[in-house]
Amino acid sequence: MARKILVTSALPYANGSIHLGHLVEYIQTDIWVRFQKMRGNECHYVCADDTHGTPIMLRAEKEGITPEQLIARVWQEHFDDFSAFHIAFDNYGSTNSGETKELAQGIYRKLRAEKLIETRSIEQYYDPVKQMFLPDRFIKGECPKCHAKDQYGDNCEVCGAAYAPTELIEPYSAVSGAKPELRNSDHYFFKLSDPRCQAFLRQWTKSDTLQTEASNKMQEWLGAAGENKLTDWDISRDAPYFGFEIPDAPGKYFYVWLDAPVGYMGSFRQLCAKQGIDFDAFWKQGSDAELYHFIGKDILYFHALFWPAMLEHAGYRTPTKLFAHGFLTVNGEKMSKSRGTFITARSYVEHVKNTEYLRYYYAAKLNGTMEDLDLNLDDFVAKVNSDLIGKYINIASRTAGFISKKFGGSITKFNFTDTKSDHVRASAGLELWGKFVDAESQIADSYESRDFGKAIREIMRLADLANEYVNEQAPWVLAKQEGQDERLQEVCTVSLNLFRILTLYLKPILPKLAEQVESFLNIEPLIWSDAEDFLDGKINDYSHLMTRLDPKLIEAMVAANKESLQAAAPVQSEQRHAAHQQNQAKKEMTEAEKGFEPYISIDDFMKVDLRVAKIVNAEHVEGAEKLLKLTLDIGEEKPRTVFAGIKSAYDPELLKGRLTVMVANLAPRKMKFGMSEGMVLAASGEAPGLYILSPDSGAQPGMRIK
Ligand code: 2FM
Ligand code: ZN
Repeated sequence: MARKILVTSALPYANGSIHLGHLVEYIQTDIWVRFQKMRGNECHYVCADDTHGTPIMLRAEKEGITPEQLIARVWQEHFDDFSAFHIAFDNYGSTNSGETKELAQGIYRKLRAEKLIETRSIEQYYDPVKQMFLPDRFIKGECPKCHAKDQYGDNCEVCGAAYAPTELIEPYSAVSGAKPELRNSDHYFFKLSDPRCQAFLRQWTKSDTLQTEASNKMQEWLGAAGENKLTDWDISRDAPYFGFEIPDAPGKYFYVWLDAPVGYMGSFRQLCAKQGIDFDAFWKQGSDAELYHFIGKDILYFHALFWPAMLEHAGYRTPTKLFAHGFLTVNGEKMSKSRGTFITARSYVEHVKNTEYLRYYYAAKLNGTMEDLDLNLDDFVAKVNSDLIGKYINIASRTAGFISKKFGGSITKFNFTDTKSDHVRASAGLELWGKFVDAESQIADSYESRDFGKAIREIMRLADLANEYVNEQAPWVLAKQEGQDERLQEVCTVSLNLFRILTLYLKPILPKLAEQVESFLNIEPLIWSDAEDFLDGKINDYSHLMTRLDPKLIEAMVAANKESLQAAAPVQSEQRHAAHQQNQAKKEMTEAEKGFEPYISIDDFMKVDLRVAKIVNAEHVEGAEKLLKLTLDIGEEKPRTVFAGIKSAYDPELLKGRLTVMVANLAPRKMKFGMSEGMVLAASGEAPGLYILSPDSGAQPGMRIK
């Protein structure tokens, strides 16, 4: 029976261009959706631009246009970029739509009725000149840890430290340059810490909704049974803000991340209106439709915690599964503007043109896990040329010409019982054809589980077998021999049938090329159940299907991105940062840009006095959002006091008595809450989470680490 499936990809922000990093996700999703459609399932793929928030508002202002004008322009750019990469959304909407507004407000009202919304006054930096509260990314100042100037309000790009904006030294507004003032304002919170949310999320995580790595992360966020590590989520922002006003709260707007996922529903509602689909059949609680969100691993927090909790308590169904993928690296490193590997979709199209090369390469590297994916540019050229041209296209290009020239375009179901030698010959071809048909279910399973790399390995193994067959049968020799026409026609018929099945298997990845092949073979659009058919009849003349990828195109593209993007400011990531205090820009920076030297001398290292420290006391600091006050024994007469930005990750009670590592010779610095006499070290990555270090057992307070 046909499955009913709704699929989404994350909504790109409407203030930045689509780049090759984004495309990993859209290509992955598109391949999966195309596969589902070929299988005959009712599968809908929706997406939209994520249009709200301060960066978009300020950017529009800078350009002297309204936010609506800005998002309309970017929408068209995004839409064109996606079309160029054959990303076939059934609907591409915008979160700034009537549908999304109504749904977001409706969800909010239901959460409020469930008593899951609370108002609290919070203290925040305010720009007195611009007359607006400042998101962390719009406050700059001196890093409290390494004293680098002009660092963002949430973390330092030089030393990587995370802190609260109130910890910045000499803070200033990145919008007006004014000195920000601390002001109070009422904010609306979604009570994620409510026992109902917690109980629901614990059960939801266990119901096979997440990949193993994601499920482990989730356990970490939730904490052990009985523990409640979830904190309430601030869902409001004060005017001026580009977004939807909160019902009954004039001047208060939904934070962009509140309405972003609702954009999935809003976009789908538009599709329902266009095509007469029953919206409720997909979204009401108890729906038998499947719902899948493809996302990057960095936004798992929003999709695995906030989103299902919102849906559940507003009376909607929750996602069937989240499919998280890793980040893109280029030549083994983070995309970098200075190296020219921060490549936009548009730039790729301008230089390389054929976007199916990239679809193929990404597919070959995707395996359904959260591992990062590397686009190695040399390997990209080599793989496309050897697999697509050298193996796949080669089968048709070496056999199709004989059918046109000698047989008037006819391929034929050959008769293999006439003579013994015919029988042997034909059965070799038929046996091979049988193997191709038999591979269908394994390839389908690989597509279904998003292990496209595995599907491609199997398809290329078959392509190798097809080429061996062509080599052995040598149609070019048969063509020169008297009386071998029938055999020649048969070899070419088998070869083109093998080519047809390979085309079918590759079609989710190479939809455009498959269309060209369908027209060459003179057949209806291939669907998955066609694998078993044997083609005979008239085909069209073969014309070139795909050219080799010229490495010079790649060189030119990298060179162009080095020049054109160097000056571009990082504009994309404020929203995500403000929400989970991570640094997207950090991801995109090279080591050199981060301020790390390739090598330091041992003398440099020895300047840092690292000590084993015993946490004799740990406590909350009144009024500090991110800090804990630690009392550390490092074998000195008097213990040290250190304020550490680890509140989000640790319960102070559980820290007491633990050993950790501190920098003991960092100059003491005066903070709002007192003097900090050193720094404890903690590890953090792209995903939320912060981990202090522990020495091995036996280490004593005060021991030097070297
Ligand atoms: O991280 C981002 O790029 C967000 N714009 C993704 C939103 S996905 C969904 F929740 F809308
Ligand atoms: Zn710093």
